[in-house]
Amino acid sequence: MTHIRSELIGFGHCLPQKVLTNDDLSKMVETSDEWIRTRTGIVSRHISEGETTADIAFKAAQMALKTAQITVDELDMIIVATLTPDNTTPSVAAKLSNMLGAKSGTICTDIAAACSGFVYALTFTDNMIQLGQIKTALVIGAETLSNVVDWTDRNTCVLFGDGAGAVIVRAKEGKGDSSDTGVLATKLYADGSHYDNLKILGGVSTTRNAGFVTMDGKEVFKFAVNALSQAAEVVLEKAGLTVDDIDFIIPHQANIRIIEGVGKKMNLPDDKIIVSVDHHGNTSAASIPLALSENYASGRIKKGDLVVLSAMGAGFTWGGAVVRI
Ligand code: UT7
Repeated sequence: MTHIRSELIGFGHCLPQKVLTNDDLSKMVETSDEWIRTRTGIVSRHISEGETTADIAFKAAQMALKTAQITVDELDMIIVATLTPDNTTPSVAAKLSNMLGAKSGTICTDIAAACSGFVYALTFTDNMIQLGQIKTALVIGAETLSNVVDWTDRNTCVLFGDGAGAVIVRAKEGKGDSSDTGVLATKLYADGSHYDNLKILGGVSTTRNAGFVTMDGKEVFKFAVNALSQAAEVVLEKAGLTVDDIDFIIPHQANIRIIEGVGKKMNLPDDKIIVSVDHHGNTSAASIPLALSENYASGRIKKGDLVVLSAMGAGFTWGGAVVRI
């Protein structure tokens, strides 16, 4: 029986030019390259100097449209996962639609699911496509987290970076089995009882402004290893596949020790695990599409590869997707 699949036909990414190294940070707070490398795996991160989230999302979107070889007129929806929007409202997606010159009628919305935002956005898009509501979508994860980091707090300021990743998703008829290209299975989760474990303090209806990131690092760490591996295993099972079928897994890039924990739990060899946290830091909703696009552009991830995406973030939210490129 034929099945409508959401095929990933274009990939784009953008990193702000400025690179902040661990040595740079050690001049700003009481820290060291050694501490940051061994506890997080991070070596450097990109920091925006005046570019907004929409600005970097725009560059990632242009690259994705180009690699997909489609024009902006073909987009039925723009969906942006972010926790650092340019304005409280309208959405970054709406701003982007104007910057890109999208046609009137193109659906625009942002998704607030923190570091799981891209997997949430891809899942919503896949469902819209399967229901026949849209044919082609631009799905983005973009963040300028440098705006919500307290640069005097060594517990958090060493962890985050700025960046954007984008994919073009298009409806295509498949056979309905796991040899199809496109999104093969998705699963989303959340548990609001962890609301206080990881958050940006403040907001429109409380303090009337955005505050800084705070977290219970150890609690997040423990939860992340289990959530990321569980979500990956569930989507593989839903797609009728096993860990042995995976070409690559892209876990959310927060800490190399979390990523290694996931690899160990799932019994995955290192060469199947995509790591970009070393040079991106944690870019929240951008981390997965950024790593995906960067590795597609370099030729490491190729057409036909089976890739598992697995994310976890504030809320807590988490989820996974299995995609054949
Ligand atoms: O996208 C999801 C968002 N967040 C995450 O996924 C983060 C998850 N958690 C983590 O990655 C880790 O818990 C951290 C990297 C945040 C912390 O690593 P840890 O091994 O859990 O360290 P810790 O919190 O136990 O801190 C150990 C020590 C503390 O000193 P004392 O109290 O033992 O004297 C900290 O004050 O390290 C100290 N410390 C630092 N030292 C140098 C904390 N930050 C720094 C720093 N440089 N930047």
